[in-house]
Amino acid sequence: MLKAAREVRERAHAPYSGYRVGAAVLGAGGGIHAGCNVENSAYPEGLCAEAAAIAAMVAAGEGRIQAVLVVGDGADLITPCGGCRQKIREFAGPDTPVHLCTPAAVVQTVTLDELLPLSFGPEHLE
Ligand code: THU
Repeated sequence: MLKAAREVRERAHAPYSGYRVGAAVLGAGGGIHAGCNVENSAYPEGLCAEAAAIAAMVAAGEGRIQAVLVVGDGADLITPCGGCRQKIREFAGPDTPVHLCTPAAVVQTVTLDELLPLSFGPEHLE
């Protein structure tokens, strides 16, 4: 997952922030789906790497996330933004690991529940 996220991060479109992000999700079927951030000159239209990775997973026909990995820029550790935490929540459970990485290595692993406690999810609509 780190390799996939690192590779796709190289292709990020981040001319405005200069902050390139790569993400990879491990689908329930074992597939690894990667995505990078895609910024836009109309700033709010930009897409986070995690959202791109999730879209790739859904497009590949997988509907559950086993693990998430995100790689930021430089030494400061990235964590998924609030919106991405909710996007992950749609397809993952509270114990799902989220690996936080620099381009060099996995630095910390947290659970989705640690990132998004008391979350709202699909079960609430059943
Ligand atoms: N970004 C992500 O791709 N994922 C995150 O979880 C945090 C932020 C991107 C959005 C924007 O292109 C750049 O990083 C700076 O915010």
